[in-house]
Amino acid sequence: MALAPVKGQYHLQNYKKTYQQFDWREETEFINGEKPINLTFHAIDRHIEEGYGEKPALHYVKDNQTITKTFHEVKFEIDRYVEVLRTEGVKQGDRVFVFLPKEPACYIAILAVIRIGAIACPLFEGFMTEAIHARIIDASGQVLITNKALAKRIHLNQLPSLQLTIYTEEVETRVLTGDDYVEWVTPETPMLIHYTSGSTGKPKGVVHAHRSFVHHLVTGKWVLDLHDDDIYWCTSHPGWVTGSVYGIFSPWLNRATVVIVDGRYDAKRWYRVLEDLKVTVFYSAPTAFRMLKSEQDLHLNYDLSHLRHVLSVGEPLNPEVIDWAYRAWGKRIHDTWWMTETGGHLVVNLPSQPIKPGSMGRPLPGIKVKVIDEAGLEVAPGTVGQLAVVAPWPGLMHAIWQDETKYQSYFNQTGDYLSGDYCYQDEDGYIFFTGRKDDLINTQGERVGPFEVESTLLKHEAIKEAAVIGKPDPLRGEIVKAFVTLNRSFTPTEALHQSLIQFVRAQLAPHAAPKEIEYLAELPKTKISGKILRRELREIDAASLTS
Ligand code: PRX
Repeated sequence: MALAPVKGQYHLQNYKKTYQQFDWREETEFINGEKPINLTFHAIDRHIEEGYGEKPALHYVKDNQTITKTFHEVKFEIDRYVEVLRTEGVKQGDRVFVFLPKEPACYIAILAVIRIGAIACPLFEGFMTEAIHARIIDASGQVLITNKALAKRIHLNQLPSLQLTIYTEEVETRVLTGDDYVEWVTPETPMLIHYTSGSTGKPKGVVHAHRSFVHHLVTGKWVLDLHDDDIYWCTSHPGWVTGSVYGIFSPWLNRATVVIVDGRYDAKRWYRVLEDLKVTVFYSAPTAFRMLKSEQDLHLNYDLSHLRHVLSVGEPLNPEVIDWAYRAWGKRIHDTWWMTETGGHLVVNLPSQPIKPGSMGRPLPGIKVKVIDEAGLEVAPGTVGQLAVVAPWPGLMHAIWQDETKYQSYFNQTGDYLSGDYCYQDEDGYIFFTGRKDDLINTQGERVGPFEVESTLLKHEAIKEAAVIGKPDPLRGEIVKAFVTLNRSFTPTEALHQSLIQFVRAQLAPHAAPKEIEYLAELPKTKISGKILRRELREIDAASLTS
């Protein structure tokens, strides 16, 4: 049953009318290059110019302490990084990797890179050596901003393109001497690369341009519904697109105060932050909501009365979780759908509109979607097909880093963007996700490419062959499951099992390590090309559950 909206002063009140009337061309001066732009000017300077310099830009919760910084203070810290980068000769187009924990320095460094026209490449703090190296090598990264602790995971002598490493510890003690500097760029100037996993091959660098700030600005207003008195918390790390676009850009473009909480999920701590900081808008992922749900009545110990708008992204949001939040918190969870490549929300549930639990929502005004069959033709309502989007829109990726063929492969002959997600749309326009077209794994809302995990497993001395799938899991959406064959002289002991899991955790990233490993005498392959059949592995897995 649909959940009715609560009456309120939302930025977008009338979906149908806005959908019919809105045109991105209203923002034409920023999209078509009529004005020089830089995202950071709109995210920070503009607010100071308009008299909001003393407004808190962020509350940073570290352990049990909260540190607040105003827009002025954030600007000062950005300027310090800008000065270091410029003194060192970093320039427009250079790839600057930012490998930092979820702390203000990470947000500030990313903006400083963008401010000088260079390309920020944020890395998730959970990444280990192989994952980090693969990305820096692919982008021929010239600069790395990190801290002394995380730097231990990186072997600089294996990264020939890197010319400069900047440690936050050193920037933070630097005395600012120069003037304010901003590099004015065009809408198509690249500003950000997020590496994201595909179903095959290495992760690819999705390049975003400055023009996407228009998308971030508009969706921050309509979808996050940010108002001046909001305290906004997005739980994602800026190494993922949700953490940069809706953790930094969109809220600051809308002058909101953002909450930054270090570390990963912790139910009691998260509830305490919601209560203590009086968070009003909360953006997280289904796995986190499912974990909070499993804590049952824990929420009763906390005052959540300030919370007014809750959103989710990254993986299917179960109707039971929406039901639970409605009963327990008295709030609807608003699901949103988008991808690293789309640069911003495309399918959304708006606060002023009814929610149909199980649905990702309806297309954002300015976005036209199609559900298409294999031939590219639109299917009837209720019929499953691939979710395609009429291109372009402001947030759409600018390129895949040095891979034009890959970039082109996202579009069909009509120029529509192909998401690789299957779904159906009902008569009212609501879209329901049904699955992926490919072998991409989505675990806890994080995208994991089977190829990266398989390549890492193959580096272990015991492994002869490896194939990795996403196995459905009630809590995490999917878990990473590996099927392996062993080299002669190795047997599947508990010690080997643990060693394999630890190996992937230490080389790649904890979230990408298999939670389950099955040992087979042989992997199923196609007769002609010898390609491993992941589909058959999924069937083996499902059969073992029912037998
Ligand atoms: O399969 C869809 C799933 O996550 C993919 C995009 O992953 P990523 O680029 O890492 O971006 C995640 C956050 C923007 C999509 O192709 N996905 C994303 N949102 C949803 C979703 N699946 C179901 N429901 C969603 N709301």
